[in-house]
Amino acid sequence: EAFLASDPLALLQVTDRFIYLQEGDVVRLARGGDIAVHDTAGNVQSRPVQTFEHGDGAATKDGYRHFMLKEIHEQPQVIAATLEGRLTERHALVRSFGREAEALFAQARQIHIVACGTSYHAGLVARYWLEKYAGLPTQVEVASEYRYRQVVVPEGTLFVTLSQSGETADTLAALRFARERGYVGSLAICNVPGSSLVRESDLTLLTQAGPEIGVASTKAFTTQLVALMLLTLSLGRMRGMNGARETQIVQALRTLPRAMSQVLALDGDIEALSMAFAEKHHALFLGRGAHYPIALEGALKLKEISYIHAEAYPAGELKHGPLALVDSEMPVISVAPNDELLEKLKSNLQEVRARGGELFVFADERV
Ligand code: F6R
Repeated sequence: EAFLASDPLALLQVTDRFIYLQEGDVVRLARGGDIAVHDTAGNVQSRPVQTFEHGDGAATKDGYRHFMLKEIHEQPQVIAATLEGRLTERHALVRSFGREAEALFAQARQIHIVACGTSYHAGLVARYWLEKYAGLPTQVEVASEYRYRQVVVPEGTLFVTLSQSGETADTLAALRFARERGYVGSLAICNVPGSSLVRESDLTLLTQAGPEIGVASTKAFTTQLVALMLLTLSLGRMRGMNGARETQIVQALRTLPRAMSQVLALDGDIEALSMAFAEKHHALFLGRGAHYPIALEGALKLKEISYIHAEAYPAGELKHGPLALVDSEMPVISVAPNDELLEKLKSNLQEVRARGGELFVFADERV
């Protein structure tokens, strides 16, 4: 037999032998495993058969009910792997982004981040960090919009793509389009070594999430956030970021895998909470600041996995329309870290309560 797929992971249950096609190739598969590959000029090509190595059990569920659950629980270890060798006691190492990184970063006066779906949400979070800690104006855009727009690229703009797979067509097209637009350079934050995005970018930082088999992105998202914080620290340091703040973030990154394990230990409680949603048709996610994109990502995951309609709003927008939808049938989920916006968020949540909305608040223990 012979099979065709866009990703080896889809076929690991049936084979570990793969032929990788090149851009423009056409392949004919015939009964009996007869395979013919033609290049763009129509010439027959012999592409080598390669054996896919997956010694780390990526293709097995390791006792979890499904791959997504397994991948959620892998987060502490893959975050530690993404940080490995990229931090000193006080700094992030700029060279993790490639040998040319220091020279390219020094020219950056603003940043354009382009991605799709969950990766786009990671970019939206990073905008808050890059502006706050590195003082760099940052624009984040969905690739399928960016590539068809007449984008104005101010001098000194660094182009950043985010992608788990490195093969998302719109993100790749955006990178190719950007090349003609006069950016100072391109950086790909990507999970797949050797992917098209990695091959075609000037700089790369590989997240170390390992193969993500679950269709909904989980561990890839959190490793992207870690990578984006490394980028923020690298750019921040070159642009006079406060040293004490930098050290504090580096320390926080080091303790992140442990903190994440503590959150994952709440799995049973969270499963119990999910019962309250099972019969609902809609849900509203709220967040403020960098947690607004986290709310967007929560809503995307609920839609994708449970088929429950979900929307996300910046909490301060509630009173400008969506509050009208809130009643006892509308669960409202909010991320409420103990930060400078907490009091503002609390007053938004009181508005929800006043309308009889059912609130689910993910808060710091200290709140
Ligand atoms: C959602 C999800 C998608 C991807 C999007 C981009 O759970 O997985 O929204 O994030 O298709 O894919 P990558 O990151 O591979 O470019």
